[in-house]
Amino acid sequence: MAKSKSTAFFCKECGYESSKWLGQCPACKEWNTMVEAPLAKKESSGRTALSGISGISGTLKMARPVKLEEVSLNDQDRISTGYKELDRVLGSGIVAGSLVLVGGDPGIGKSTLLLQVCRNLARDGHRVLYISGEESLKQIKMRASRIGEISGELYFLCETNLETIGECIRENKPEIVIIDSIQTMFCESGNSAPGSMSQVRESTNVLMQIAKGMGIAIFIVGHVTKEGVVAGPRMLEHMVDTVLYFEGERNASYRILRGVKNRFGSTNEIGVFEMAEHGLAEVLNPSEYLLSGRPEEASGAVVACSIEGTRPILLEVQALVTQTNFGMPRRTAAGTDYNRVNLLMAVLEKRCRYEMSRYDAYINIAGGVKMNEPALDLAIVLALVSSMKDRAVNPKTIIFGEVGLSGEVRAVSMAEQRVNEAIKLGFESCILPKVNLDKLKKYSEITLYGVSNVREAIALI
Ligand code: TYD
Ligand code: MG
Repeated sequence: MAKSKSTAFFCKECGYESSKWLGQCPACKEWNTMVEAPLAKKESSGRTALSGISGISGTLKMARPVKLEEVSLNDQDRISTGYKELDRVLGSGIVAGSLVLVGGDPGIGKSTLLLQVCRNLARDGHRVLYISGEESLKQIKMRASRIGEISGELYFLCETNLETIGECIRENKPEIVIIDSIQTMFCESGNSAPGSMSQVRESTNVLMQIAKGMGIAIFIVGHVTKEGVVAGPRMLEHMVDTVLYFEGERNASYRILRGVKNRFGSTNEIGVFEMAEHGLAEVLNPSEYLLSGRPEEASGAVVACSIEGTRPILLEVQALVTQTNFGMPRRTAAGTDYNRVNLLMAVLEKRCRYEMSRYDAYINIAGGVKMNEPALDLAIVLALVSSMKDRAVNPKTIIFGEVGLSGEVRAVSMAEQRVNEAIKLGFESCILPKVNLDKLKKYSEITLYGVSNVREAIALI
């Protein structure tokens, strides 16, 4: 008797579906990523998706198109998380009915962050439900006692069965739900182990229907695997509205929350937090933290200004240039683009006649952050030159500008914001593209030097 096919093979990376096992995924060309998983019940998922949207299932059956004016936006009102840093990354607060994925390495502080957010929301009079599949109520209480007092309508549930969770949500009617973590959840309908790809997919699907159907904002915690993707499926990313990654060195105290996808805001924004004795604290002025502990009068260190989203952030670019001992010079770039550094060194070699091929060069952005803005070019170039000549750049100078292949310094965006940030932090001079300087007003607090090519900038320092 022919067995009816109830499983298929899925690519762990991109979600490509195939009826037989393949060594290489035809869609994303990754090797060894196909895993067997039960097929989603197509018929039921299609129907529940519609009927799950309470109250409008009747209208949907008639399929009546509407004008945008008829759509009321009241439900879209944003709820503040109590943290400016997080609100900004979300695009000014939580949207009702949205599904937010918070990814990050284990132990980075996802549960702590969300528990603190729950505390803030409950304090502001919202009804919140925190569902943990990883920790017992005792463990949660221990963590809660570290982060301070909890009051208001904040409920906890230790549960991994999504059918039970769904019922509890329908009964409890919270405004915001936290699921910690998606890898521990399972639904009875998907018949494989929790944490497997099909379970994660199925569970997210169920949560999405709850979120959209009942207008509840749901935060899903997802652990990131070694490969740097939210465990198992990248396909989780396309199912949710917003994807945030919580990054940082586990042993450094600073954590950066980065928006990777956001249907309700910009993805360039970052939020900076610091892990302390009593949980996470916001770092409202990241420039100050990135520049703290800066060696004064050290060669090879310059301060640059990068724009992250709408915010100027000052940071320290460090270069170490040493004579190479082997035929092949070594180059590394931590926190910025390696190829860009190579390109800038080639510009120095060709346009300024520095023999860079005789030197090893190491570039580092201090503070463990990653920045890739072209406006850092000029700072990288000047840090390299400063280290090579072993001459320190004035520590009260900030530098920004994009460098072109013929050694010209090109204009960057938002020059005024960058200069203002420098003034705020007490810098006395600024080297910037001449084109930008011509458009800026006169400042009395800071001396501006406009340069039109790399040679002029080197002469200045
Ligand atoms: P946690 O939120 O459990 O991480 P995740 O949910 O991402 O796995 O964070 C755990 C780490 O945070 C742990 O190593 C201890 C540290 N921590 C503090 O330093 N201070 C605190 O007040 C708290 C609650 C945690
Ligand atoms: Mg956790």
